[in-house]
Amino acid sequence: MIQPIKTFDAYQEAYTKSVNDPAQFWGEVAENFDWKSPWGKVFSGDFSQAESKWFEGATLNITENCLDRHLAERGNKLAMIWEPNDPKERFVRYTFRELHEQVSKFGNVLRAQGVGKGDRVCIYMPMIPELMVAVLACARIGAVHSVVFAGFAAHSIADRINDSGCKLVVTADALYRGAKQIPCKAVIDEALLSCSTVEKVIVYERAQWPVEMVVGRDIWWHEAMASASTHCEPEVMQAEDMLFILYTSGSTGKPKGVVHTCGGYMVYTAYSFANVFQPKESDVYWCTADIGWITGHSYLIYGPLLNGTTTLVFEGVPTYPDPGRFWQVCDKHAVNIFYTAPTAIRSLMAAGEDHVLSYSLDKLRVLGSVGEPINEEAWHWYNIHVGKERCPLTDTWWQTETGGIMIAALAGVSPLKPSFAGYPLPGIQPVLLNQSGEEIAENEQEGYLAIKFPWPSMIRTTYGDHERCRLTYFDTYKGYYFTGDGAKRDTNGMYKIIGRVDDVINVSGHRFGTAEIENAINQNTHIAESAVVGYPHDIKGQGIYAFVVCKDKVFDPVNLRGEINETVTAQIGKIAKPDKIQIVSALPKTRSGKIMRRILRKVAEGDVSNLGDTSTLLDPLVVEEIVAGKL
Ligand code: WTA
Repeated sequence: MIQPIKTFDAYQEAYTKSVNDPAQFWGEVAENFDWKSPWGKVFSGDFSQAESKWFEGATLNITENCLDRHLAERGNKLAMIWEPNDPKERFVRYTFRELHEQVSKFGNVLRAQGVGKGDRVCIYMPMIPELMVAVLACARIGAVHSVVFAGFAAHSIADRINDSGCKLVVTADALYRGAKQIPCKAVIDEALLSCSTVEKVIVYERAQWPVEMVVGRDIWWHEAMASASTHCEPEVMQAEDMLFILYTSGSTGKPKGVVHTCGGYMVYTAYSFANVFQPKESDVYWCTADIGWITGHSYLIYGPLLNGTTTLVFEGVPTYPDPGRFWQVCDKHAVNIFYTAPTAIRSLMAAGEDHVLSYSLDKLRVLGSVGEPINEEAWHWYNIHVGKERCPLTDTWWQTETGGIMIAALAGVSPLKPSFAGYPLPGIQPVLLNQSGEEIAENEQEGYLAIKFPWPSMIRTTYGDHERCRLTYFDTYKGYYFTGDGAKRDTNGMYKIIGRVDDVINVSGHRFGTAEIENAINQNTHIAESAVVGYPHDIKGQGIYAFVVCKDKVFDPVNLRGEINETVTAQIGKIAKPDKIQIVSALPKTRSGKIMRRILRKVAEGDVSNLGDTSTLLDPLVVEEIVAGKL
């Protein structure tokens, strides 16, 4: 088991060692796991080719490290606590032994349906224990899980299933989210109309929602599990075999399937979890992220279970039945470590202190933040009202592509500074680059955030298109992994993440490419073209502002906006609906036809005092109209 670093001096020592001799450093960290056979070389790779291999030659199964190896000492310890959406419904707890049993059974169910090593499985489920079981069961039998957040629409699911050629889908009848019930199976049925690779669908009954079962294709979870054996031989995986695919948005094209592999991902998620959160053996840890995002993969499932930590899974939302729910759950299950997103903090902050002051929160010891920059106001509110100024608050910067936390305080070990992520974890070598791609050596500077040396859980490829991976992350600045974020370093070398410098917007911690939303809007037959930008939003961090040009001369703006929202909901999902839609007669374009987004961003931000040089515009009058009509 990983022994976390306990002092800042020890951190600095570990950091220096990790930079001077990465192979030795990571080799020693990797000794903390059960491998079936040892590696030949700790790592090899070449950033220019987007290649990185870790622990090559070694074999393992990550679920043996998450579950089996804890059975002797922690068999009866809780692995997972599940808190349902409705506080009146009974919660569920699984010990490591029980979780091991469920995972083994479902692994056998998948195998019985012909799923084997390397096959892709799409998981589209509510936040229920069975989602975690399905993920781990895939890993157990060497199938590649591709979890799709259960808020995406049929169209987006179909794209993801087709891109990776999934053989099987695991879903549920419906899900509960706050006061709403939302169907899942019906959405999958619709998606599958345009997918030819899926042979079977396994359906968990969560909400007694009527579903149509397709004969020969659809199987009930409970029926399949009833007779499944509790012994499931773990598949022997190479360290560099694929563990999962997770789709994420970039600045161009369709979302891409970020690929993570078994060995490096295991070592890094476990190492970073132990060091950042400093869990104690008796702790209850709660990460509020959905398993549909990377945070749910790395720090709700793998990181905690690899460390033998009890992890809490919450089905609901922060504001249901009232904005005290998070704190009620913390008290109810005696949560010690709590990891959430700034958007949740801001929305609870807006609901007033009373909700949080009604709970004791006396078991909390460590707080974490993830997903977007945390503004100072939210940082202080979280620190004072939730942490009672006695819990270190670690702001963790990382990405789907990095697999694990890259820059963050080690709780109780590293110095804290509001709205700063702080120092890199051992093994992580961040740099700031200037416009020309040169490293900025001085502190008190801003630049593009890049990483100059491989780390075990870095992205291996984008599924089915390695060149896209190389071009997106390794080509902009040769010799570096480019993050797409801007950052600054203070006098002490602490990092503060400023935000995306590309066409990615971060809405409540969810990433969307502006092009992705524009493509969706343009599916509406009334729309000639559109341009989407982000703007500062009090709760969501960034909101979506769409400028649209209508084909029709006469239209009803209210209807048109409603229709656009419907189109986006159908194409991507409700989560990508624009917050503001401004209908304009034309977009500001240069003579070469390029949309001047800089101007649109300024208008959306409400800062029209200085729009900069507009002389290269084809029609400068358009700008006046846009400014006059800003929302
Ligand atoms: C942003 C989520 C500032 C950032 C783990 C990054 C953050 C993108 C932070 C990745 C943070 C995430 N401070 N910004 N602590 N954490 N981001 O792939 O812009 O969903 O590039 O991964 O979120 O989002 P993703």
